[in-house]
Amino acid sequence: MPDQALQLDKDNYWWKKAVFYQIYPRSFQDSNGDGIGDLKGIISRLDYLNDGTTNSLGIDAIWFSPFFKSPDFDYGYDVADYCDIDPRYGTLADFDCLREEAHRRNIKIMLDLVVNHTSHLHPWFLESSSSRDNPKRDWYIWKDGKGKGKKLPNNWRTHFFGPAWTWDEKTQQYYLHSFLKEQPDLNWFNSEVREAVGNVIRFWLNRGVDGFRLDVAHHYCKDKQFRSNPPFFIREKGKDRVKSSDRRLMANIMKLFALPTFQIGKYNQHQPETHEVLREFRQIFDVYPAKTSVGEIIGEDAALVASYYGKNNDELHMNFYFELAHCRWQAGAFRRCVERWERNLPNDAWPAYAFSNHDLVRAISRYDSDGNGDKRARLLMLMLLTFKGTPFIYYGEEISMKEVKLSKKQLKDPPGVKWYPLHRGRDGCRTPMQWNEGACAGFSDVSPWLPVGPEIGRRSVAVQQNDPHSQLNLVRELIRLRKSLPALLEGSYSSVTEGVSADCFCYLRETDQQKVMVCVNFSFRRQEINPGSLNRESKIIFSTAPEREPQKIYFPLTLEPGEGCIIDLGMEK
Ligand code: NOJ
Repeated sequence: MPDQALQLDKDNYWWKKAVFYQIYPRSFQDSNGDGIGDLKGIISRLDYLNDGTTNSLGIDAIWFSPFFKSPDFDYGYDVADYCDIDPRYGTLADFDCLREEAHRRNIKIMLDLVVNHTSHLHPWFLESSSSRDNPKRDWYIWKDGKGKGKKLPNNWRTHFFGPAWTWDEKTQQYYLHSFLKEQPDLNWFNSEVREAVGNVIRFWLNRGVDGFRLDVAHHYCKDKQFRSNPPFFIREKGKDRVKSSDRRLMANIMKLFALPTFQIGKYNQHQPETHEVLREFRQIFDVYPAKTSVGEIIGEDAALVASYYGKNNDELHMNFYFELAHCRWQAGAFRRCVERWERNLPNDAWPAYAFSNHDLVRAISRYDSDGNGDKRARLLMLMLLTFKGTPFIYYGEEISMKEVKLSKKQLKDPPGVKWYPLHRGRDGCRTPMQWNEGACAGFSDVSPWLPVGPEIGRRSVAVQQNDPHSQLNLVRELIRLRKSLPALLEGSYSSVTEGVSADCFCYLRETDQQKVMVCVNFSFRRQEINPGSLNRESKIIFSTAPEREPQKIYFPLTLEPGEGCIIDLGMEK
């Protein structure tokens, strides 16, 4: 067996042990010289991801952002045909080849299922919008205008900017879209919609995919009475918590730009009927062995997000808790967030973790206001790969690619995609993968669709490959270690606070046979760790500090500034 492959094939729960890698197909590798990444390009880079030896990264599964037919108003998140590949990325035959080549390397394949909405150019919507009595009219959400002035049906707003209703001149009704107007929301109360999407899932499962990421799954069902959402400032007891600092910030922005009130998505998100839809999906997945799903469920309330595992663990297999990506750089903030997530997870629920993705400012840059982003990126990777749960690495995170600052002219994310007036869109985290120091970073022979980031002399695969202390080699080593330590793969999680200063985040991962402690020094000062109850000979088996050798230790342990390490505590005699 290749030394870096886990024997996942016969294991229905392979996804609990896997390390996932998210590819944004447009930006990974261009094979045909059009400046846009494609499936053949991805195939040519699979060995980098896992060639079965320790020379490669060693990931076990890829989540692909969408590569289905799409007019690209939201770069693939507006699908016009769920069962075909967009010609810019390739063909179904290329997909089959990609799946085969990935599976040959023990890499599983996860697709992005974007079914809260379709593209406005999807044949379903073209039919639905063709007349009021079209049989597919009810597949989408249509409403009359209110009163003589044909006012909006309610106050719902999109996640980007502006009202969530657009007037259709032809049929004289509004349709609902939670994102761009080119992304009309499907009506999940319509049984034909459920059947049609079920068939899409079956189509891909029959074609050998191993799982799905469910785009904004908390959005599927809407309030049947279409009640208006409460404004952002009203805080209902125990629900929809809004951080007071966020509230203040939003209030100031709104004042500055004279914006209408923001709101809590009480009636257009997290409706109870969505759980039924997810149970139906799960029943489809369960017909096929060893399939998985991960939800994009957005919410601050950990219990609410955790509810999407289902009362009987019969909904999502895995779920992210995105609050972690919004923590400030503070040991206690990270610890409390992980604890909150752990505490709220139902028994047997398996978490997923990510610090970066195609919607977020890259984590390395989020924590770089004082220029220490690189050091923190090492600690982030240490945490990501040692938390209890399945880690998702975003392409380029393993070579410390930074958020790229783009000029207005270079932006591609549609102008409607704004989360606040000065928001520049999400292009900065979607720039081409940096393979080498060439003009187009080895991504393409021609000028790519988005510019290559700066510092490719430091932040590229070719350069980091040969540097034993690079981020790339740190991530490889952590993945290798994770696979070799049962405590990291499947052990329980508990925070350690005894003898740990407020600047450090320490946690135990343990099985009956193995006890491992992870210590992360968030500060740039030396810190002493002295948990009295662990006073026995232990061994540092990994450190983010290049100068630290594997060594036996007794507590107290002094962590160097910004150092994180993994300690094998051995077992009590
Ligand atoms: C969430 C996706 O991650 C984001 O990229 C997209 O714009 C929206 N959903 C709409 O599909």
